[in-house]
Amino acid sequence: MTTAPPAAPERARPDAAAASLGAPARCRRRLLVAAAAAALARPATHACAAVRTPTAAQMRGPFYPQTSPPDDDTDLTRVRGIDRAAEGVITDLDGQVFDADGRALAGVRVEIWQVDARGCYHHVGDAGGDDPDPAFQGFGRTETDAQGRWRFRTVRPVAYPGRVPHIHFAVTPRGGATFTTQMYLAGHPGNDADFVLNGVASADARAALQVALGPAARPGATLAGRFDITLGRTPPVAS
Ligand SMILES: [Fe+2]
Repeated sequence: MTTAPPAAPERARPDAAAASLGAPARCRRRLLVAAAAAALARPATHACAAVRTPTAAQMRGPFYPQTSPPDDDTDLTRVRGIDRAAEGVITDLDGQVFDADGRALAGVRVEIWQVDARGCYHHVGDAGGDDPDPAFQGFGRTETDAQGRWRFRTVRPVAYPGRVPHIHFAVTPRGGATFTTQMYLAGHPGNDADFVLNGVASADARAALQVALGPAARPGATLAGRFDITLGRTPPVAS
């Protein structure tokens, strides 16, 4: 014998609620007004959550570290054991990681990697990287705080043959898949011709990958920029 599933609860009708309380007809209007006022006074749990457009995915590329580097903190301009800062324009980057409902995501691993001021990836696979700046860390990682915030100090990326300046990002939420994208410099004249950036069909999505750098607020840096990342349903792209 099969058991019928329980009937879905009917949405309560206010006038039925009033009748069920045994209220006389003349009082029902007052009850309805009170119910409406109570509903308005209730905190709207999703009022703060704005719908956000997911950040466009970009290829991971071939230069993600093959092994975890010994120095992988958030300051890529300093390498343990080297008594000088990295060459290049020191740049502070920060941002937040959100989901598509606008909720800030805590505990998300954020990793970045890029070329140094000489245009070299610190990676054995970079054929053009035979003279890297030893004072540049090349890669860094952190985790978002309770407000989904992350921060790195690095150098302004430079162009290398075939690509405009960019910084690679890998973003991994707790228990989730890694999302990769690339951040570009707003206003760079080569952006319109870069084959990776222009692999993103939407002009708005391409614009969201381009960050305007301005004067830095924190001592020790020259430039600063903000790059927010929204994780959504963008399908992963091949490396
Ligand atoms: Fe790259």
